[in-house]
Amino acid sequence: MNPSRPHKPSPRLTRDTYPGTLVVGGGVIGLAVGWALALRGEPVTVLERGKAGREASWAAAGMLAPITEVAFQEDTNLALGLDSLARYPNFVARLQAATGLHVDFRTEGALQMALTADDSARLAEVYGYQRARGLAVEPLTPAQAQALEPGLSGYVAAAYLCRQDHQVDPRKLTAALGAALAQSGGQVLENTPVERFVLEPGKPPAVELGGNLAGEVWPARRVLLAAGAWSGLVAGLPDHLRPPVRPVKGQMLALRMPEPHPLTRFLRVVRVPEIYLAPKSDGRLIVGATVEEMGFDREVTAGGLYELLKGAWEALPGAYDLPVVETWTGFRPGSRDNAPILGESGFPGLYMATGHHRNGILTTPATAYHLSRLMLDGLASDLLNKFSPQRFNRPRAS
Ligand code: FAD
Ligand code: GLY
Repeated sequence: MNPSRPHKPSPRLTRDTYPGTLVVGGGVIGLAVGWALALRGEPVTVLERGKAGREASWAAAGMLAPITEVAFQEDTNLALGLDSLARYPNFVARLQAATGLHVDFRTEGALQMALTADDSARLAEVYGYQRARGLAVEPLTPAQAQALEPGLSGYVAAAYLCRQDHQVDPRKLTAALGAALAQSGGQVLENTPVERFVLEPGKPPAVELGGNLAGEVWPARRVLLAAGAWSGLVAGLPDHLRPPVRPVKGQMLALRMPEPHPLTRFLRVVRVPEIYLAPKSDGRLIVGATVEEMGFDREVTAGGLYELLKGAWEALPGAYDLPVVETWTGFRPGSRDNAPILGESGFPGLYMATGHHRNGILTTPATAYHLSRLMLDGLASDLLNKFSPQRFNRPRAS
């Protein structure tokens, strides 16, 4: 014990050990893993400090885009993204059947475009990378791109169609996951922050709660840390277990497409290097997103909106006249190596599912599938092993 610090007595355990899983964080990841566990009969309680699904999962555009959002040298992330994309149709079908809630899963694909010679050369590099990995991307002539999406700029310099990248409405997805979890016997306790972990060798992991349950310490058979960009901030984790997650700010806005609108055939996600446009079935056209290292700054800025609107107008000139219906920010949980952190923490019974960065909506089904098998059956797939939290574990300071 460090003699310079007062010795605190062990916390009083105010509950019997919870026989199932406590999930810290009610975003898309915590809810989806919780649902997968509950479907297997595991008692699950999701502890959410605010309202479930109102952070990054609310802010996201909902693109399911492992191919058009591929990043050089991130082949492990690509493998997870493709694994998850393949699971999406079945995942959505089960979710919608269980809840009767529609999540706006759309499969028209995505267009990658360049409007300048410079961007055209960059996109050609990306296309080479995609092809080398056998990803299905078709080069289009500008005329073919405009025939697909007549609202596009007349200055298309290069275009590629990816039929396999899809999209979903992330707000509807999280609402449906919350309903599905409840239906399968799980529960979400909102306004219930986890103030700290209580980790004592030889004992089950426990969490100390705040809010109306302030001061209560709940031990559980298993605890899953799924607190998004805040995952590294929950107290009580020793440094060597603390996941290196930081907030990566994104600013977004939504335009309203008129009904009936002149862009009636604007169906696909359209990406130019600076921005993307994601049309939703409710008439919103999502324009995203900035990528900023600004800590937990929630401001929507003039510069951020300017960049988004400029990019939208350049790609889709008709956007000039569309009403802005919403602006917002969100925090992507970015890890030190940009890869998710999934698996056993190194403390028995404590698991992690965080660091999903720019692709957490995409990788939700894979996270839920692989994590639930690990947690309930002890089965770690080769894929899951690549994302182990223990890749960051530092040796204990002596
Ligand atoms: P969150 O949704 O942030 O959930 C974490 C939850 O934990 C929060 O509800 C929070 O309140 C709670 N919490 C935190 N601390 C505590 C605590 N101590 N106790 C209890 N609860 C706590 N991904 C895609 O796949 N496609 C996209 O198109 C896409 N677009 C994006 C656009 C933007 C602008 C942003 C910001 C993100 C985007 N993402 C996208 C990424 C995606 O949104 C995230 O990867 C995903 O939502 C992460 O989910 P999560 O559940 O880990 O985090
Ligand atoms: N994946 C889109 C974003 O993070 O903005």
